[in-house]
Amino acid sequence: MGKVAVAFAAAAVVAACSVAAVMVRRRVKSRRKWRSVVEILKELEEGCDTPVGRLRQVVDAMAVEMHAGLASEGGSKLKMLLTFVHELPKGTEKGTYYALHLGGTYFRILRVHLGGERSYLDVQDVERHPIPSHLMNSTSEVLFNFLAFSLERFIEKEGDGSSSQGVKRELAFTFSFPVKHSSISSGVLIKWTKGFEISEMVGRDIAECLQVALNTRGLDMHVAALVNDTVGALSLGYYHDPDTVVAVVFGTGSNACYLERTDAIIKSQGLLTTSGSMVVNMEWGNFWSSHLPRTSYDIDLDAESSNSNDMGFEKMIAGMYLGDIVRRVILRMSQESDIFGPSSSLLSEPYVLRTNLVSAMHEDDTPELQEVARILKDLGVSEVPLKVRKLVVKVCDVVTRRVGRLAAAGIAGILKKIGRDGSGGITSGRSRSENQMQRRTVVAVEGGLYMNYTMFREYMEEALVEILGEEVSQYVVVKAMEDGSSIGSALLVASSQ
Ligand code: BGC
Repeated sequence: MGKVAVAFAAAAVVAACSVAAVMVRRRVKSRRKWRSVVEILKELEEGCDTPVGRLRQVVDAMAVEMHAGLASEGGSKLKMLLTFVHELPKGTEKGTYYALHLGGTYFRILRVHLGGERSYLDVQDVERHPIPSHLMNSTSEVLFNFLAFSLERFIEKEGDGSSSQGVKRELAFTFSFPVKHSSISSGVLIKWTKGFEISEMVGRDIAECLQVALNTRGLDMHVAALVNDTVGALSLGYYHDPDTVVAVVFGTGSNACYLERTDAIIKSQGLLTTSGSMVVNMEWGNFWSSHLPRTSYDIDLDAESSNSNDMGFEKMIAGMYLGDIVRRVILRMSQESDIFGPSSSLLSEPYVLRTNLVSAMHEDDTPELQEVARILKDLGVSEVPLKVRKLVVKVCDVVTRRVGRLAAAGIAGILKKIGRDGSGGITSGRSRSENQMQRRTVVAVEGGLYMNYTMFREYMEEALVEILGEEVSQYVVVKAMEDGSSIGSALLVASSQ
């Protein structure tokens, strides 16, 4: 071989070696990056861990806080609000009633016709619209004019057939925010939640605001009840099944109500009702306990929210926040590695990853996780390998599992407070054998998170059995109440006539 050829061959070897070295370095680097992502996932799993022992601590804390909130005004972060609802619809109600429901994401209007027998409940013309986002921080005048206008349009479509001439239409206003009631049809707003911010409305009577707006438009409607969405769901549950004593909403926000004995509502001594009980709106979104598994993502989400240091439980379990927790985890992974390619500015936008997208990714059953790829692409993250898509699904799973399990602990806490968890309650000290016979207990559940996210539902139901045990959980029935908040509120008006 000539000198030139030798030099050429040597150069080729050197070049090949350096290419190989670069490739090895790249591989090592990418392995290191992958390792850092796996670390983030591991840390998330540990932070979201909810073994049954921990869930039981949350159950106890919930029951203790319920007692404290009933004992004195401000005695707990749980407000335990009186609703002045002490009779639930029995099934004999008759007539035509309307409901307007202002939720967190949607508002609904509907009409129900009741024929006097439980089986004759005719729900007509359900209208469901997204709440225009500008209304959430407008003025009370703008918000209530909009609601009155929407009702007017709804009624215009009816023609003359639905209301007899000269008879006012009776309306239930389902208002999914905390209200301090002075009667079933009046109450003042305590605070806004779920991103609403119309500060001048705090402290004002909500039913009156709506009535004034209806009168101004010349609408012949009477706001006959102001009802929390949980209370509406309880009413529909009870209408169908009188063993229903608890209702929970898992939607944009989250909350629960239940039927309590009036003598247990110590902060309102002397409260008398014909039934001896009253529905209490817990406002459990504000529940807090040191046993809740809180991660750095929860802390940041709270700090950056419009109501920081408030609604801590809601921010861990409700639909408005679930997606954003997942987004925060993916964002951190994308910042600490390049597995998502060049970082997408969209991912930094709060609330861009909505919970319905999380559920679509989590429940993607296509072999190549095409749905995950599509959603990530919409978030500005394209060409993500299958391995990374699987990682995203895992993040959705870890976060949603925690939500489902904490939701179950909340429900079990209520069952404990009312002595339906098989333990004899928290104050009695009775052992299980001494305890009265376990009674069938129905928990009515409503809200988009529960209705539309199968994996959430499954995690919740599985954890409830784990907490209560096989035997007791046979007596606890969780029942979905589609549109229960609105229909049930209309039923309440009917039963109070
Ligand atoms: C509100 C509750 C409501 C719940 C579910 C919470 O943000 O404070 O009043 O029941 O959302 O809609």
